[in-house]
Amino acid sequence: MMILRVAFFLVVGFMVFLSTPNFSSAEYGDIILNKKAASMREAEVKDVMFPHWFHRIRFKCKVCHEEIFIMKAGANDIDMSKIMNGEKCGKCHNGVTAWEPLYCDRCHSQEPGWKAGPVQHSKKIK
Ligand code: HEC
Ligand code: HEC
Ligand code: HEC
Repeated sequence: MMILRVAFFLVVGFMVFLSTPNFSSAEYGDIILNKKAASMREAEVKDVMFPHWFHRIRFKCKVCHEEIFIMKAGANDIDMSKIMNGEKCGKCHNGVTAWEPLYCDRCHSQEPGWKAGPVQHSKKIK
């Protein structure tokens, strides 16, 4: 019985975790993209925090790797004209598979000042 109860709370906890919108805090395994920091500051948007695990649990790796994204931090050249043209993030963020790329802050949610690549811990590296 105890086991069942623990399993139940784990499942409920996971469902709450999945349904809680969280666009603004990087977690372990998230990937910060900021090669284009200068243009992003000009456009007054923050760096990009790509929630890798959020996507990994929804899609097979091969949906993205390597046809859309090379599987190496920093190896991809992404910009807004590609996204608006349905490439890179825009393959899905096109208003059909997922929301359109009009909600800037959902992707540009990372305060500048973090190192590009996978987030290791909550450690800020200048
Ligand atoms: C689906 C996610 C997503 C959304 C939504 C999004 N962006 Fe981006 N944006 C990115 C990614 C990824 C990059 C590449 C970042 C890098 O590699 O430095 C980027 C890069 C940029 C850049 C720098 C490159 C360039 O194209 O000039 C600007 C400026 C920018 N975004 C502005 C915006 C604005 C303004 C909006 C809202 C209208 C927006 N973005 C919405 C993901 C997104
Ligand atoms: C929705 C698309 C998407 C899916 C699905 C996805 N990835 Fe990724 N992955 C990315 C993006 C975007 C990057 C960042 C590349 C960059 O920094 O230029 C990345 C980076 C990586 C990296 C290099 C960074 C790191 O963490 O070391 C590895 C390894 C990786 N992915 C493995 C996987 C595996 C394994 C799966 C399946 C379990 C997977 N990915 C599923 C989009 C995806
Ligand atoms: C293979 C399809 C696919 C690709 C490619 C993809 N996404 Fe997504 N993304 C999704 C789906 C589906 C959702 C969930 C949409 C929803 O909840 O309505 C999502 C949700 C998100 C969210 C919100 C996560 C949350 O906590 O709700 C962010 C941020 C995001 N994507 C950023 C990106 C960025 C940045 C890229 C490119 C580096 C990208 N995505 C590429 C399919 C994709």
